[in-house]
Amino acid sequence: MTSSTPLTLDDIRSTLATVQLGRRLYVHHEVPSTNSEAMALAQAGAEHGTVVVADSQSAGRGRLSRPWHSPAGANLYCSIILKDEGRTIGDVEWLSWIPLASALAVAEAVQVIASISLSVKWPNDLLYQDRKVGGILCESLRTPIQGSVVVIGIGINVNLPQESFPEELRQTATSLFEIAKSSIDRNRLLAQLLYELEQVARELTTHGSSHLRPAYLNRCCTIGKRVRAILGAEQEITGTAESISSDGALQVRPHFTAPAGLPPELINIHAADVIHLRE
Ligand code: BTN
Repeated sequence: MTSSTPLTLDDIRSTLATVQLGRRLYVHHEVPSTNSEAMALAQAGAEHGTVVVADSQSAGRGRLSRPWHSPAGANLYCSIILKDEGRTIGDVEWLSWIPLASALAVAEAVQVIASISLSVKWPNDLLYQDRKVGGILCESLRTPIQGSVVVIGIGINVNLPQESFPEELRQTATSLFEIAKSSIDRNRLLAQLLYELEQVARELTTHGSSHLRPAYLNRCCTIGKRVRAILGAEQEITGTAESISSDGALQVRPHFTAPAGLPPELINIHAADVIHLRE
């Protein structure tokens, strides 16, 4: 295993430049899942910007109920609580853009700390040359007193050597260490990530997605690709991903001919497992 600097409260705080995110910060050796931990804190009324980070997870969770490989001493596993603080945009726009804006923040933080340019596979997989480097799981709850609360769970493969990935991920995933050929300080990466997340969250709450959408389109490698979008057990769409709507949906032009030779209408996909098809 590559040597990773330990995650500590003091080291994270030493470069943290945020106003709100991470001002309350819980650093664990191991938890089942930082998202489950943060959801419990959110339910109990934890303040906006509370962060839970762990060196390892015994039951890390990915999107679509998949497990998230979470060994100790190598990667970043964190969850951030965002609350309904002085928003000028509606719940729907906020909730649908948080996952996409979070992916932008991760990509920006990785660029600053590791000089690596990641792309985003819609909605929020972080890729380097088609290999997955990170993923985001957003969960939300609504209470009469707090309104909408979102937990943004972020997992980044930081210092894990390729041979330490489980067999089933070895061909499809990679880590920043493998790309940069040097180990990355997780404390600095987390501090930068919280800073970037604070910027995009502020942008979203004050101006909506108008500036974030072009920035996301720039990073999004799904646009222009032939994709298969699996919507459920019985339903899938194959087509070309053309754009992202103002509410964060992936706009796909299906591959079938419409009546009278017209191009088929764009379909807005709000939630799906998207597979990039070979050209
Ligand atoms: C995905 O499937 O791509 C999303 C992966 C999200 C993993 C992170 S690790 C920190 C947080 N805690 C969890 O249990 N999951 C998220």
